[in-house]
Amino acid sequence: MTQHDPTRRDFLKTTGGVAVAAATFDRAVDAAQATGPFVSAPPIEMVRIGYVGIGGQGGSHVRNLLKIPGCRITAVCDIRSERTEWAASQITAAGHPAPTAYTRGPNDFVRLCETESLDLVYNATPWEFHVPIMLAAMKNGKHTATEVPAAMTLDDCWALVEGSEKYRKHCVLMENCNYDRPEMMVYGLVRQGAFGEILHAEGGYLHDLRSIKFADSGEGLWRRAWATKLNGNLYPTHGLGPIANCLDMNRGDRFDYLVSMSGPSRGLQEWAKDHFPPEAPQRQEKYVLGDVNVSLIKTANGKTIVVQHGTNLPRPYSRIHLVQGTKGLFQGYPNRLYIEGRGKADTWQEGAALFDQYEHPLWKEIAEQAAGAGHGGMDFIEDYRLIKCLREGKPTDFNVYDAAAISSVVHLSVQSVAKRSVPVEFPDFTRGRWKTTPPVAILHM
Ligand SMILES: NC(=O)c1ccc[n+]([C@@H]2O[C@H](COP(=O)([O-])OP(=O)(O)OC[C@H]3O[C@@H](n4cnc5c(N)ncnc54)[C@H](O)[C@@H]3O)[C@@H](O)[C@H]2O)c1
Repeated sequence: MTQHDPTRRDFLKTTGGVAVAAATFDRAVDAAQATGPFVSAPPIEMVRIGYVGIGGQGGSHVRNLLKIPGCRITAVCDIRSERTEWAASQITAAGHPAPTAYTRGPNDFVRLCETESLDLVYNATPWEFHVPIMLAAMKNGKHTATEVPAAMTLDDCWALVEGSEKYRKHCVLMENCNYDRPEMMVYGLVRQGAFGEILHAEGGYLHDLRSIKFADSGEGLWRRAWATKLNGNLYPTHGLGPIANCLDMNRGDRFDYLVSMSGPSRGLQEWAKDHFPPEAPQRQEKYVLGDVNVSLIKTANGKTIVVQHGTNLPRPYSRIHLVQGTKGLFQGYPNRLYIEGRGKADTWQEGAALFDQYEHPLWKEIAEQAAGAGHGGMDFIEDYRLIKCLREGKPTDFNVYDAAAISSVVHLSVQSVAKRSVPVEFPDFTRGRWKTTPPVAILHM
């Protein structure tokens, strides 16, 4: 039993015990049952999708999927029937048959997985539901994809790996920031060798979410609660996903260990004091999440990574996105690039001209279709790539090992913070396969 289990049980009380299944499911699967790296599956001509959790982000994915050829949303699930009704109206307006709706409470995704003929169960639910939904999907013969992070504990990361290997189903971390315009440009340049060997990278999720966390709808209903339970990096994937690609994580290198530190917790308390009367329940909450968390990761090949988390303080948005190689570097927010021998010595190349020169081919081809989609279009490209890989029977850009390794930073950072920043080792979720898996293939369509 890990030190996280009591925390998880606390959450399960609030979610009707749904994730108890996740905690125990498949823990008994012997690693030997995994017969090899699971990275691809037979092509699917028309991908039939069950969508679970149609709130802010799920709604955006539903709209994207309706514009992507070769897929149909045939079932929808949400605890709020107005959201499945909204999705059904979008689906029928797009000229497709009305989906079957599953609205009988927080466990109804199990019925969806058990009864529907689907190729993919894709969810954008609160964090505590990601793992139970993905496990139910794979157990019932469906591929599965999730919003981020995939899992909040090491046990759950392993459960996903074991489920994917046992049932031979994709289990995909849908990290949209991998597909943003600067991140794709940088990844393309890395693959071309423009920065030389990549030695160091920095990323993060620095976003003032205070008003969202205290809203009486959407994420306000569930996200703030995690800040009363865990102190670490609760949302590592946006910063770490793109730099994991640049450093070939799980594809020639892997995360080895991390050390993590959190500073004081002030932002949520101060917001509550400024916005709620003394007797309000929000004023009685006690937050343990440090407002700024910094983790340092060493990779097996000796590379270094800094990943930050900060969602409780006033500040403009940043994911940092720094990638340093032996021949130059990129730094985001604002976008700047320096490659030795190109342009003036000691001087950044910056601004829109960067994209004129170095744009990723996929962005060039798809920008028009992506225009207007969530988060500047990157969400459309991520959904497009998922469906394309499934239709062609190719490995998905991120696989279950990426989902586990990147999401495990949540648990490992909490562990390190709790013990005066001691180094904590990453499990090798690939069991050695990181040495032979080829790099992510999003350079070309
Ligand atoms: N990649 C991104 O940029 C991005 C942005 C926002 C949110 N997210 C992620 O998307 C997920 C959802 O976030 P959101 O902002 O859409 O939250 P939200 O609260 O707006 O939506 C969650 C939806 O799930 C439904 N739901 C809750 N429990 C359910 C259950 N057991 N079964 C079925 N439906 C259930 C809710 O009714 C709601 O409609 C989270 O994992 C979050 O981290 C990612």
